[in-house]
Amino acid sequence: MSLRLQLIWLTTLVLLISLLLGGLLTYGYARSKVRAEMHAAMAVGQRMARNAIADAGLKPDPNRELRQLVADFDGDRHLHVFWLDDAGRRLASSELAPTPESVPDWLYRLLAGQPNIVRLSMPPSLQDKGTIELATDPRNEIGEAWEDVRLILAILGIFCGLALSLIFVAIGYALRPLHRLSAAFTKVGSGDYTERVAESGPLELSRLCQGFNRMLDRLSGMEARNLKLQEQLAAVQDEERADLARDLHDEVGPFLFAVGVDATMIKRFAENGRREEIVARSEAIREATEHMQKHIKAMLGRLRAGVLLDVGLDQAVENLVMFWRARQPDIAFSIHLPKQAIPRPLDEAVYRIIQESLSNAVRHGRPRRVEIKLDHDGDDVRVTICDDGAGFQPAQQKPGFGLSGMEERIKALGGTLSIRVREQGGVVVSARFPEKKTNGETEPEMLSPEFSV
Ligand SMILES: Nc1ncnc2c1ncn2[C@@H]1O[C@H](COP(=O)(O)OP(=O)(O)OP(=O)(O)O)[C@@H](O)[C@H]1O
Ligand SMILES: [Mg+2]
Repeated sequence: MSLRLQLIWLTTLVLLISLLLGGLLTYGYARSKVRAEMHAAMAVGQRMARNAIADAGLKPDPNRELRQLVADFDGDRHLHVFWLDDAGRRLASSELAPTPESVPDWLYRLLAGQPNIVRLSMPPSLQDKGTIELATDPRNEIGEAWEDVRLILAILGIFCGLALSLIFVAIGYALRPLHRLSAAFTKVGSGDYTERVAESGPLELSRLCQGFNRMLDRLSGMEARNLKLQEQLAAVQDEERADLARDLHDEVGPFLFAVGVDATMIKRFAENGRREEIVARSEAIREATEHMQKHIKAMLGRLRAGVLLDVGLDQAVENLVMFWRARQPDIAFSIHLPKQAIPRPLDEAVYRIIQESLSNAVRHGRPRRVEIKLDHDGDDVRVTICDDGAGFQPAQQKPGFGLSGMEERIKALGGTLSIRVREQGGVVVSARFPEKKTNGETEPEMLSPEFSV
């Protein structure tokens, strides 16, 4: 059942209970009023009749007087008066005032109670004239009460109808934002984050709509960021593949060709018995193979750090630095690694942080010096990469995949990352992996004075 219908049902129930209680109270009031009226009418009627009977005893024609007594009660609303002979037959009876409305039987039975009948004795002079009987008849009083009840019921009916209609309209208006929210949620459920709801209606619901819109702003922002990250990831992967293809072409291809040429020449020298040239060519093949091995290892390391880390983190970092030294001979790289080994998977994370930081420094900063430092600080492992390049303005920093990927990797291991642009230029990237939760990030200590702040 809809909320609107539930509220209407509830209100109707409350109104019905109120009506029932009101009915019970009205019944009690009407019943006591009917009794009081009958009692009063009987008292007044008795006094009047006794006086008239006493007068009739003194008059020359008592029969006429007694008939007049009965006729005097014609039109009375509550009392029926009869003149009865000694055998109980009616000699005369008064006419009750007409009842205003036909009273329903059930109401009559509820309110009437026992009839009150009183027979008045005659004075000694009228002993043979029978008796005067007074009987109360509440029909008129009940008819009046019935009219009142009908009026009250009509007023209550109009009130309830109006109240229910107003509540129906007001609830419909108040719940309108909920309908909009539910439609918007359906759209969000199907992945459409462009929907927004009007922030109107009752305070609570308009706040709910505000919160919903803010949530959608964040969601659409995150979706856009995710999309961008995916695009960047795809671009990085393409770049990486192109890089590998270039390396294979430039570093491995010529050497393979050289090995082929050397092998052909060895065959020719062997046929001619030129032993010295054979030794020289063999040595050239060995050098070429060594060169290719080195490059293939470096390429494997870029594809999967674990392979390179099999030779140890220090050697892997050394190879990484060699890779950049070969391409950027003007940059002075220095490495400070502890003798103590770093356990898996921390060493892979450290390697990746160094790899990305070196790549960023060379690509974006064009530094003269780059320092890599890894140390233990209590139970924590701390890795710091500093460069003296151009640095960057945080406001103008382009969101890339490298730094966010680095942060995610560090967070996954329960570590923290700090990236600081130095005043004199350059960037300090520092990550620490605490075994216990640390209270704050301490500034990394640099080895060389030119990197201190
Ligand atoms: N050492 C640095 N020197 C100068 N600028 C830097 C340095 N490190 C990061 N930045 C700035 O921060 C930005 C974000 O770096 P991030 O590594 O996230 O992305 P990217 O290097 O541009 O792209 P990606 O790493 O995804 O290939 C860079 O574009 C650059 O502007
Ligand atoms: Mg990068």
